[in-house]
Amino acid sequence: MSTRGKPRILLMHYILDPGPAILAEAGEVVPYPPDRPLDEASIRQAAEGCTGIVSQLMDPIRETVLSTPGLKIVSNVAVGFDNIDVAAATANKVMVTNTPGVLDDATADFAFTLLMTTARRVVEADAFTRSGQFRGWEIDMMLGADVFGATLGLIGVGRIGRGVAHRAKGFNMRVLYYDPNPLPPDAEQQLGATRVDLGRLLAESDFVSVHVPLTQETHHLLSTPQYGQMKKTAILINTSRGPVVDEAALVEALNAKKIAGAGLDVYEREPAVHPGLVVLPNVVLAPHIASATTRTRSEMSAMAARNMATAVRGGRPPNLVNPEVKR
Ligand code: GLV
Repeated sequence: MSTRGKPRILLMHYILDPGPAILAEAGEVVPYPPDRPLDEASIRQAAEGCTGIVSQLMDPIRETVLSTPGLKIVSNVAVGFDNIDVAAATANKVMVTNTPGVLDDATADFAFTLLMTTARRVVEADAFTRSGQFRGWEIDMMLGADVFGATLGLIGVGRIGRGVAHRAKGFNMRVLYYDPNPLPPDAEQQLGATRVDLGRLLAESDFVSVHVPLTQETHHLLSTPQYGQMKKTAILINTSRGPVVDEAALVEALNAKKIAGAGLDVYEREPAVHPGLVVLPNVVLAPHIASATTRTRSEMSAMAARNMATAVRGGRPPNLVNPEVKR
């Protein structure tokens, strides 16, 4: 608490309207100095005296930060919360919240965008056309992969994976999925999705799209042996978290032509991108923008601000990921 009695809220980065107004109503907003590095010690120093932190996915919120006296809540402006050590938060009785649901459609749209763009070589074609190389129609120019009627393998069928399956129906795709939690039979039927093991999914899919959270279990879920199981014509799409995919092994697999291409929105060491990816024409690279529509990012900002406001007023925020902290 500040001396004026209003709870202090550390705002790590700018958020969109109406988030700032919701936060200003709830407490005294303390912006994180933009020139300060994003390491644990610097964040801890800034968090002293704060009841809450509004964080984003590039902020390492771990024990050093979570043990700040008086800290009650960390509200992450993202659905993923692998940047936060939730076990340490729970041990320190700090609530952690995220922004589920509001970004599902934008993210599923973007996974499909990457799929189409990579399959039909849109980025290469654009560069080719802009650079004046288009000298007329040619029968074998920029040949790509068919999407309509192809087989799509979804790794993870949470809300976003299901959204991608839904879109795939319109493209008459055969949808396979791998997930430890089976979909209810009516959802499988509605989405036309068949549950298979990872090996079969990799062996049979023309497109493999990843939709799992980053955990110890999913770290490098796709590495050399998995790329070796995929079709030589297959395209990998990742809009989840970079470290689910072993990036160095992916570069090797692409160079060895074990798979045909990749569409990536996330990277192992963001914002760094593996130099081996940058030089490959059969790879489409986006800067972690799957949820970046004006409406979605605004809703994420509002949701994170409301989670914070509820918590600093002593309530139980709706999107609590560690409910054991606040019964
Ligand atoms: C973005 O990657 C998110 O987790 O919301």
